Amino acid sequence: MPTPDIQSIIDQMTLEEKATLCTGASPWTTTPIERLDVPELLCSDGPHGVRRLSDVTTMAAESLPATCFPTASCQAATWNETLIEEMGQALAQEAIALDVGVILGPSNNMKRTPLCGRNFEYYAEDPFLSGALTTRYINGVQSRGVGVSLKHFAANNQEFQRFSISAEVDERTLRELYLPAFEMAVKQAQPWTVMCAYNKLNGVYCSEHHELITDILKDEWEFEGLVFSDWGAVHDRVAALQAGIDLEMPGPKPRRVKAVINAVRDGTLDEAVLDESVHRILDIVFKAAHTPKGGQFDVAAHHALARKIAAEGIVLLKNNGLLPLQQPRQIAIIGRTAQEPHFQGGGSSFINPTQVDNGFEAVQKLASEAQLTYAAGYPADLSFRQELIDEAVTNAQAAEVALIFVALPPVIESEGYDRPDLNLTQQQVALIKAVTAAQPKTVVILNTGSAVAMSDWLDGTAAVLEAWLMGQAGAGAIADILFGRVNPSGKLAETFPLKLSDTPAHLNFPGEMGVVRYGEGMFIGYRYYDAKEMPVLFPFGYGLSYTTFAYTNPQVSTATFKDVEGVTVAVDVTNTGQMAGQEIVQLYVHDHEAGLTRPVKELKGFTKISLEPGETKTVTIALDFRAFAFYHTGHKQWITEDGQFDVLIGASAADIRCIQTVTLQSTLELPSLLDTESTVREWLADPRGKVVFEPVFKQIITQMQQATGGDTGQSDAIGMDMVGFMMDMPLLSVLHFQESLLSVTPEEMANDLLEQVKRQMS
Ligand code: BGC
Repeated sequence: MPTPDIQSIIDQMTLEEKATLCTGASPWTTTPIERLDVPELLCSDGPHGVRRLSDVTTMAAESLPATCFPTASCQAATWNETLIEEMGQALAQEAIALDVGVILGPSNNMKRTPLCGRNFEYYAEDPFLSGALTTRYINGVQSRGVGVSLKHFAANNQEFQRFSISAEVDERTLRELYLPAFEMAVKQAQPWTVMCAYNKLNGVYCSEHHELITDILKDEWEFEGLVFSDWGAVHDRVAALQAGIDLEMPGPKPRRVKAVINAVRDGTLDEAVLDESVHRILDIVFKAAHTPKGGQFDVAAHHALARKIAAEGIVLLKNNGLLPLQQPRQIAIIGRTAQEPHFQGGGSSFINPTQVDNGFEAVQKLASEAQLTYAAGYPADLSFRQELIDEAVTNAQAAEVALIFVALPPVIESEGYDRPDLNLTQQQVALIKAVTAAQPKTVVILNTGSAVAMSDWLDGTAAVLEAWLMGQAGAGAIADILFGRVNPSGKLAETFPLKLSDTPAHLNFPGEMGVVRYGEGMFIGYRYYDAKEMPVLFPFGYGLSYTTFAYTNPQVSTATFKDVEGVTVAVDVTNTGQMAGQEIVQLYVHDHEAGLTRPVKELKGFTKISLEPGETKTVTIALDFRAFAFYHTGHKQWITEDGQFDVLIGASAADIRCIQTVTLQSTLELPSLLDTESTVREWLADPRGKVVFEPVFKQIITQMQQATGGDTGQSDAIGMDMVGFMMDMPLLSVLHFQESLLSVTPEEMANDLLEQVKRQMS
């Protein structure tokens, strides 16, 4: 279909047609306008599969079969951008076959706390990793002519009161932690659509947040697509349009449409605002219509891809050498989810899979000579059943190896509610303890959407795999790892803490009285544990392999560089073990000294490489302006400062192998932020302020010393260091104290000093 002239369509539209277009026609479709040949756009949920309902006039009918790929937690642990892009292409093929124009995903919300019920749908505790992976997801989908909806914008980091709670986030934290993943994806991949979050941000519904939706997303980041509301996130349709929400979903909502028409008629809503949204919607509607729909997708190939991603996303957390398994003859398979795999989370992302691998059968396939027993080990609910544990222990004792498959029940982990704690169920913990006591050769395989506590039982195990909610082909992937058909290469995209009370948001979660205060500020995940020097169970970026890697010969392209030119870092990585494998090389940046508080280190680059035994590859990672910058709320922009930075090359956040120190030269010419209320310390720290104020300050000190009879500034009369005392006084206050000694008023003097500062800038 040729792209029509959108403006000429808008010119022919009636006010009613415009208002109707801005609200869905059904839960999943936009409003077609036959007389103007405007087709409907059909969207369906994602993010890890296409959830195309059989009946799009309903909110929750059964969906058509589609591949359930691994959830975002698992995808993130691959750190494999190419693979995620490949998955995006496969998702688009399925969307095309199922007549879908836009997939509602991926999600770029940060994992602020491991308790968030929806963490399985989110990528990481780090915005750089989340942004990099979702950018490639979007590129993959959109390269095939299908759109995405990047969600949930913004600060939607918990399920508790998700429809209404106000996330209270300070500006710098928002800019440095909760927005950058969205910013990267928008700037680098231009998602067709962005979905606003349900919650409020600093007291204003995201669906009515003009600064967020229009000023930042559309104007500052130059987002070209359309903004969806999350399903039911709109409270006041006119306010939402004014804030920049182009399309309200779901529909139909005749009363909302009427409100928009009335608002235009009575002048409360400028028709130009409506036209802008209509333009954005039509752009995407026609873009989607441009891709012919229908046909088939390759079910087997996509299942195989899902297995590959799952295998790369599985993280080997512990291994005393038992893995990979050396063809044991007797294997006790324990755990209900070995037979009834728990491979996805509940809620809007729930996929009707094309097929599902089963753990018991997958193990049997790769160990065809072995005898397998099965014991459920724990019930489907939260009840305690000792006899299931006893049966499992008997089987484990009789076998050479026990494999325990453990998944949290959906009643604990899902969209819609948060987890109460970090624990497995009481029965699961008791089961693991009992089985490991009876059979030291026990492997625990976890299917959880986020971190769980393990201190109670970890020591007894021989090996532990975090296999996440790993999609329909995950069981096969687990078997691949267990038997060494695939060398584990996943690494954590979220810290596993020792206990709940250690976690960054612990004192500020889930909030109360309609408010959740992000009191930990910029310090979530490893940023927090680093700053607190706190031990964790498994750090961010951690994951074992069946081989080993050595890092040598670190280099930087130049020791001194201009911020806008950036610097390139290289390191040689060698596979020093016996098995081919993949390594994820991580690059963190540490600022020696900054004008504002900064995290100890931040991830700014990574790459995943494959190495044969003995092979060496040189990894090269470029660091740009943003890798060294921080957001300055005074200047309202990302700034750099002259100075030294360490570039930390590591195998995890806690396993830094090489450090290179570089010197940055800032090219920014920033205006002075001084005013007459700025403190003495601020005046002296500002290079322009220092020039004009230091002589005045010295004079003041001398006069005070004379007045108090000393020469050190230490006043015997009041027993304190006067210079130290004055450092945090505002300029005007200091001058007021000295008023009798001044030839002009304190105000005149302060203004004159400011003028002198300004003259240096011009
Ligand atoms: C979820 C979205 C989802 C939408 C449509 C909402 O409840 O938050 O992620 O895309 O429903 O199902």
